[in-house]
Amino acid sequence: MTTGRQSIATSDWKETAPRLDVSEVRKDFPILKQTVHGKPLVYLDNAATTQKPQVVIDAIHRYYSTENSNIHRGVHYLSEQATRDYEDARKKVQHFINAPKEREIVFVRSTTEAINLIAQSYGRHFLKKGDEIVVSAMEHHSNIVPWQMLCEQTGAKLQVIPIDQDGELLLEEFERLLNARTRLVSVAHVSNALGTVNPVKDMIREAHKREIPVLVDGAQAAPHMKIDVQELGCDFYAFSGHKLFGPTGIGVLYGKASLLEAMPPYQGGGDMISLVTFEKTHYNVLPYKFEAGTPNIAGGIGLGAAIDYLNGLGMEAVEAYENQLLSYALESMSTLSGVQLIGTPKQRAGVISFNLDGIHAHDVGTILDQEGVAIRAGHHCAMPVMQRFGVPATARASFAFYNTKDEVDTLVRAIHKVQEVFQ
Ligand SMILES: Cc1ncc(COP(=O)(O)O)c(C=O)c1O
Repeated sequence: MTTGRQSIATSDWKETAPRLDVSEVRKDFPILKQTVHGKPLVYLDNAATTQKPQVVIDAIHRYYSTENSNIHRGVHYLSEQATRDYEDARKKVQHFINAPKEREIVFVRSTTEAINLIAQSYGRHFLKKGDEIVVSAMEHHSNIVPWQMLCEQTGAKLQVIPIDQDGELLLEEFERLLNARTRLVSVAHVSNALGTVNPVKDMIREAHKREIPVLVDGAQAAPHMKIDVQELGCDFYAFSGHKLFGPTGIGVLYGKASLLEAMPPYQGGGDMISLVTFEKTHYNVLPYKFEAGTPNIAGGIGLGAAIDYLNGLGMEAVEAYENQLLSYALESMSTLSGVQLIGTPKQRAGVISFNLDGIHAHDVGTILDQEGVAIRAGHHCAMPVMQRFGVPATARASFAFYNTKDEVDTLVRAIHKVQEVFQ
């Protein structure tokens, strides 16, 4: 089996030891202490959602036990505290992704909602029949279906960048797709089904040469690497709190102020207005124009705590450690026969998708679960990727900085067990 990336030999592990003290880090995550089916939990389903450190759980608990109240409109003490903490979280997000302005950070429910916001606000306002939107063949359904809905509404057309057998984008095809009708490119930074890290910075440069804005789906990138939206040059960047060690129900849309200003609101309601009469309503300033109704206050505060925690670890240390862990996992899996990797990209983050000869991915997932190993089996909300590789499903092990080399060894032993059962 080829791993498609340079491996770090097992013996190199110590010499290239990361700056992260993983055994200490693991103590911060109460859920990781659990046993499952009598075995220590090995949580390798981080691409679906990540576990939460105690500081995030505490921040949510503190909010509900000491300052629960509605924000922005209150004049009383609790409301002021809650507003301050929620808006502090926005500043933390701004600095975390190096956005130039605080008002460029829109809190949403999730990556899915961020992409739908762009499709329904930017897309419906600026796109018309015959215009084109470019996505890739490795997108999550969240970065396909909103555009298909927009195409139905406007008569625009979806164009798809193909991928090769390694699971990498065909960049010449991408450039060929960009033309005078292209109005938007929307592409994953990291593929949730293959782990491919796409060269989004280069792609953004190419699109910008033709004055085409770019939305980056960062759901699988933000948890694994330092994100700098100014360095990338993207127009929009989306990610989910729950994949970033924060709570569910909170996500982030970064957008360049000039674009967000030009876009109409996505939803109407409280907080997104400055004046309402039956004759005319005036919308609020950014980012509130896009935040109708009572937001997920606890979620925002919890996300702020997750970002503080990650800053404490340092995203560079997280990335360096995870790269070593992934190399170790790929090398360890290469010692097994009967394993096919789905996707062998040169740049990979977080994810290893695989199938075992003659064994359905769901059976792999079920038997691994009996060994305490939590992976995901299925199409990973990326059915076009499955079609591209001619498989109905894959087993997917996905990693975070709290995973260990020992857990990789447990995964490999458990895969052996699956193969024995099906011999
Ligand atoms: C690449 C990618 N985009 C979008 C999403 C959707 O994220 P959410 O369900 O948090 O909106 C996911 C979730 O797995 C993803 O992996």
